[in-house]
Amino acid sequence: MSGSFNDNVTEEIKSRCNIVDVIGQVVPLKRMGSNYKGVCPFHNEKTPSFVVSETKQIFTCFGCGATGDVFEFVRKYYNLDFPGTVEKLAKEYGVEYVSNYQKDSRKELYYQINREAATFFFKAFCQTKNPGLTYMLKRGIDPTTLKKFGIGYADGEWDSLYKYFMAKEIDVKILKELGLVSESKGKYYDKFRNRVMFPIINTRGKVIGFGGRAIDDAMPKYLNSPESPVFMKKNNLYGLNLSRQDISKENCAILVEGYMDVISLYQSGIRNVGASLGTALTENQAKMLRRYTKNIVLSYDADSAGQAAALRGIDILFKEGCKPKVLHVTDGKDPDEFVKKHGKDAFKKLVNQALGFVDYKISVLRKKYNLNSYEESIEFLEEAAIVLRQLSPIEADIHIKKLANEIKISENAIRLEINGNNTQEEQINHNYLDNREEKPTLDINSSILPVEKNLIKLIITDYKYYKLIIKNENAFKSNYGKKLFSVISSFYKEESELDIMKLQDSLEPDEMMVLSDIIDNVQLADKEEQILQESLNKIEVEDLTEKENSLLMRLSMADEEENQEIIKVLTEELMNLQRKKMERGK
Ligand code: UTP
Ligand code: MN
Repeated sequence: MSGSFNDNVTEEIKSRCNIVDVIGQVVPLKRMGSNYKGVCPFHNEKTPSFVVSETKQIFTCFGCGATGDVFEFVRKYYNLDFPGTVEKLAKEYGVEYVSNYQKDSRKELYYQINREAATFFFKAFCQTKNPGLTYMLKRGIDPTTLKKFGIGYADGEWDSLYKYFMAKEIDVKILKELGLVSESKGKYYDKFRNRVMFPIINTRGKVIGFGGRAIDDAMPKYLNSPESPVFMKKNNLYGLNLSRQDISKENCAILVEGYMDVISLYQSGIRNVGASLGTALTENQAKMLRRYTKNIVLSYDADSAGQAAALRGIDILFKEGCKPKVLHVTDGKDPDEFVKKHGKDAFKKLVNQALGFVDYKISVLRKKYNLNSYEESIEFLEEAAIVLRQLSPIEADIHIKKLANEIKISENAIRLEINGNNTQEEQINHNYLDNREEKPTLDINSSILPVEKNLIKLIITDYKYYKLIIKNENAFKSNYGKKLFSVISSFYKEESELDIMKLQDSLEPDEMMVLSDIIDNVQLADKEEQILQESLNKIEVEDLTEKENSLLMRLSMADEEENQEIIKVLTEELMNLQRKKMERGK
């Protein structure tokens, strides 16, 4: 089976249990020579032809042909699927193991608790006059927008939310894990008190965490939910649940630092916004944005921390194939303040004036050096050359001309600097080629088979391929393959047009990455039919190999039993099968 996680579990189970005991619980077995015999539970017979080998840890029936290891027996006897089989044996033999199914249902519970907390805060915010609402109205956010973002209020009592959940008999351990409740000296209390609450909602509409802004001068100014099984900061962007359609439509995303920036811009009518939750932009966030657009405008605070964040963000976005720009807020500390003061159109103007990432990097360098000094001009050009080395020759050309003009040096000298000095190439960790060639992504490649990737690509390309592939129900063997296929199937059962965005929304971040990898990197190049045939063929060969292995297993048992008649039949079957495999293999 696929996935190292499952392999470990199945290996552990195999090492702990004896097939003779497992089968012996339900089939009376008698020792005969080196093996055990009994009446086959899989077909009707009077004389026992069901053999279990303790040394080989396999069973076989010379009557009906059933054969396999302990997992196969349990699967077949108890009518389970493979995960169900593993779960049953893991439980019986005390192997620690959380199945995907258990994990999913645990997550659902966490989402539900978060949603209830959000509703609790929301009600407190809407129903009566409270400091939270007063504060947000004072900051100029109108009731419609507040409702849209689900803004809430956590009151100043120490245990409102705690009591609310206790009345519902929710496990306090989960509340702690979600960061809703804290514990001190054995006493529990609400983590968020007297704060405006910003629920963080993922693109699947699940409440995954909260940001809480202090209303008085409590520290920290913003308190955020801790990482939890449902909240990983690096995988989410605040506001994207509302803004991703606008991002697609505008083919541009504006990235800001804070909750309030998102909300203010959104209210002003600039809706293609998101925030990276106060941390530096991550690779996963960049990948996520790249699904909607490659035009990303970074609008961070104008201070030095904001500039550093922009420089880092640029590199991460560039690596993911984006075309980042940097916007400079001219008046006011952040986009929130600017848009309140000057309005939507003025901010849009800033967006249009945003510097391309090369210009931005060079402008940062320019500030570092005194260009009236000859020596410093040289240093400036040397550093600028490193930036330009990341670009394609055509892209670089424009900037070379500009620089040559600015510093009054020949274009050729700059070109030499860019191309000649190869030692520096290793100092920068990417160049323009990396931007185009997709690098192998995490362990995605080991968690889904290449042939499965082809099939998924075919399926999302056209409904007709889906119809063809569903005939091979065992086509998908890996966990990711199976999961993607089942989610796509559920969409195709509704309608024959596949909405990729909806599909992506219904996936977990890691699954989404596997899918994005397939969308971006599997090229069909008009050879759909051929690739389909080859892929299905490959799967058939794999199925035949599996059958071959099981025949070999049975043959070895027949040998042990010295059952000449069966040996003859099996040998013939094996030869047929191997012939078929040879044909398919070509
Ligand atoms: P800022 O301090 O710039 O806050 O932090 P802001 O968004 O302008 O907030 P207001 O306008 O004062 O309400 C930017 C972002 O950094 C994160 C938050 O996500 C915040 O929106 N942050 C900041 C924290 O997580 N904790 C903090 O203590 C401060
Ligand atoms: Mn602010």
